Amino acid sequence: MITSKELKNKFIEFFKKKDHQEIDFSPLIPENDPTVLFTTAGMHPLVPFLLGQEHPLGKKIVGNQICIRTTDIEEVGDKTHFTFFEMLGNWSLGDYFKKQAIEYAFEFLTNKEFGLGLLKEKLAFTCFSGKEKIPKDQDAFDFWKEIGVNEKRIAFIEDNWWGPVGNTGPCGPDSEIFYWTSKEEVPETFDPEDDRWVEIWNLVFMEHNKKQDGELEPLNQKNIDTGFGVERVTAILNNQDDVFFTEKLNSILRFVEKLSENPINQANLSSYKIIVDHIRTSTFILGDDRAIIPSNVDQGYVLRRLIRRAIRHGTMLGINTSFVSKVSEKIIENYKEEFPHIQKNKTFILEQLTKEENRFKETIVKGLSVFYKVIEYKEEISAKNAFLLYQSYGFPIEMIVEIAKENNKQVDVDGFYKEYEIHKKLSRQGAEKKFKGGLSDHSENTKKLHTATHILNQALREIISSDIKQKGSNITSERLRFDFNFSRKLTPEELKKIEARANEVINKDMIIEKEMMPLKEALESGAQSEFGARYPEKVWVYTIGDFTKEICTGPHVQRTSELGYFKIVKEQSVAAGVRRIKAVLE
Ligand code: SER
Repeated sequence: MITSKELKNKFIEFFKKKDHQEIDFSPLIPENDPTVLFTTAGMHPLVPFLLGQEHPLGKKIVGNQICIRTTDIEEVGDKTHFTFFEMLGNWSLGDYFKKQAIEYAFEFLTNKEFGLGLLKEKLAFTCFSGKEKIPKDQDAFDFWKEIGVNEKRIAFIEDNWWGPVGNTGPCGPDSEIFYWTSKEEVPETFDPEDDRWVEIWNLVFMEHNKKQDGELEPLNQKNIDTGFGVERVTAILNNQDDVFFTEKLNSILRFVEKLSENPINQANLSSYKIIVDHIRTSTFILGDDRAIIPSNVDQGYVLRRLIRRAIRHGTMLGINTSFVSKVSEKIIENYKEEFPHIQKNKTFILEQLTKEENRFKETIVKGLSVFYKVIEYKEEISAKNAFLLYQSYGFPIEMIVEIAKENNKQVDVDGFYKEYEIHKKLSRQGAEKKFKGGLSDHSENTKKLHTATHILNQALREIISSDIKQKGSNITSERLRFDFNFSRKLTPEELKKIEARANEVINKDMIIEKEMMPLKEALESGAQSEFGARYPEKVWVYTIGDFTKEICTGPHVQRTSELGYFKIVKEQSVAAGVRRIKAVLE
């Protein structure tokens, strides 16, 4: 028996012995990352370094990242998928490349002393088959063969390409490693379609950068980005064919089983898994220091959708009492040692879950009975009915589609979106587009707005209160959004003063400079940091003339005169004691 914690230690120690430096995980809600709702892979927080910026800890990195991928939501319930998971990775930022990455991976998997001691006969590999202008990855195939892999266990696949997550950024061909999980004999020839082969590790050879026009250009440096599924491998090492039977998750499943008094069986197991998965993801979203709450936009919408889906499955299992926060408490118990931030934010997490459960519980029973009536009498769920279920009974549209599908009915989804656009109640763009995740957009305008964010941050401290600290930031190429701690609405006069101060700084044509230094020194020198953010031991500090100094990974423009005219378009409350400013550059 090996625990997930032991596995993580093994991985990290292995790569540390190979001169990698360990990084702490980044928050689930990306810091200063404009275009994503969640961190979906360990490489996200590393994008600036994959693009060539020097990493404070060097060129070889190892770490464990908590990730959310809501694109996999439909898959949850099977034996391998989650919406939240832990992913170990090793990264080379312009240091070693394909051959070395393959050798490290093979050694870690098969070596009995330093690695996992898996049988090489149970491993199989995929390589990129080539597509359009990009050639087949013969090198990867050759390196696997050289290391002793039987070529019948290597398949070429067109899909073996990773990134960019958004429209632009680092990407490249990848090579995936599979493990034979069945008790049956391992077939000689690898068939990637056979789901007894489970993917355990992805090695990405990041040597391309996708530009805005869709073309690829070579990156200045060749990088390695790998992702190794913690729960999947923990299951494999313990001869479990289902990730939900690993130690932590299994005890949560059993906990939910007790609440329902409805024993787990083959028919209801997927509902149990959905509950455990969704409440775990919700616990970690709420546990992020950014204090996201359930709502109808962005991360808040994903959170709402997950909580409500878990509640519906609870109803299907006959759980009639409030259960979401109880399950969350159990989750916090199981994960708090490795993720103390969820223990720290426990009161907030449980409060929010209870509130959301109460809100949905008020309407779900009535809503479901209306729903089943519609299903009984209509061929299709019309836009109007879907909207009624959404607006009056709180059913997320995805849930409406799901229930309809279970009953072999269609939903007029396009009509639904037209309806709500009219009502302007839900931002599909915000929620849906960004579900897929995306990379930090490094366009000129985004960089300008990033620099403007630092200026706004300092102007607020000068004009409103020196206690102000950043509590979140989100930048698109059109606007910046900045959250900070303050307990009342700003007056129009105050907003004018902030604008004027920002434009004064811009017009002074100050120079933006960056310097790397130990975190302690940065903080002592008075560099601003974000409230609740976790930083590595060495950080980049950006200064704007003598106006402001802030810890940040960038990128920024070089001179403030590049920014144009700074204008605040909105100031509002987002949570108790947290205000939000939206601003543009004209
Ligand atoms: N970015 C790749 C993945 O998520 C490897 O880490 O699979």
